[in-house]
Amino acid sequence: MKKKLIAGNWKMNGSLSSNEVLIKQLLLGLSTPNCDVAVCVPSVFLGQAQALIQSSRLDLGAQDVSMYESGAFTGEVSPAMLKDFGVRYCIVGHSERRQYHFETDAQVAAKARSALAHGITPIVCVGETLAEREVGKTEEVVKRQLAAVIHINGHCISEIVVAYEPIWAIGTGVTASTGQAQQVHAVLRAQLKAATPHADQIRLLYGGSMNAANAGQLLAQPDIDGGLVGGASLKAQDFLSIIAAAH
Ligand code: 13P
Repeated sequence: MKKKLIAGNWKMNGSLSSNEVLIKQLLLGLSTPNCDVAVCVPSVFLGQAQALIQSSRLDLGAQDVSMYESGAFTGEVSPAMLKDFGVRYCIVGHSERRQYHFETDAQVAAKARSALAHGITPIVCVGETLAEREVGKTEEVVKRQLAAVIHINGHCISEIVVAYEPIWAIGTGVTASTGQAQQVHAVLRAQLKAATPHADQIRLLYGGSMNAANAGQLLAQPDIDGGLVGGASLKAQDFLSIIAAAH
């Protein structure tokens, strides 16, 4: 049976002092989680987070990775560097990177491949804008985004995690209804099934204003295997409540 995964995406938040408090509070509350738990921290804090969480139930994640191995790519972080810091998961293709850094489907797919080649599990984000949903394009958009990743990763696709994050639900306090989320997750599952016999083992996370109050219902849906949590992952009690809702 696959375990659910609750991953916190800290985005561009934190400081050496606040990270230490947050991680220590999480470790105190995390004695025996029923699910896998990770924090995806800004890359400058990977060393600090690695030291704080070593040999604990908390896994380390990054928020982006270069599609290249090394060389003249100022500002980029390579998958080998992430691996050096004990990174287990790496978010790729978050909508904020697609939107503000103009990452294309092909680049996101290449980043997923780059992570996989170094034994890091990519958390591939897909999701539609409100305008796309309103004109009935949700399925088309998420399938196009996932197809690019399936196309270049072949049989390795069974090693990825997918996160469905409707852009209109991110940081807005508006959550997709359980029905809306499950419907898209079922579409993604079917697409993965056509690509690999192991699709049932691939974890599909929901992200977008997930909180302590709505996590239980979302995580009870048949194709929702965890959460990618933004704002609520910055508050230990809220994040621990979401973790407690996952079994
Ligand atoms: P919020 O939980 O703050 O809506 O963010 C979701 C998200 O973007 C996680 O990657």
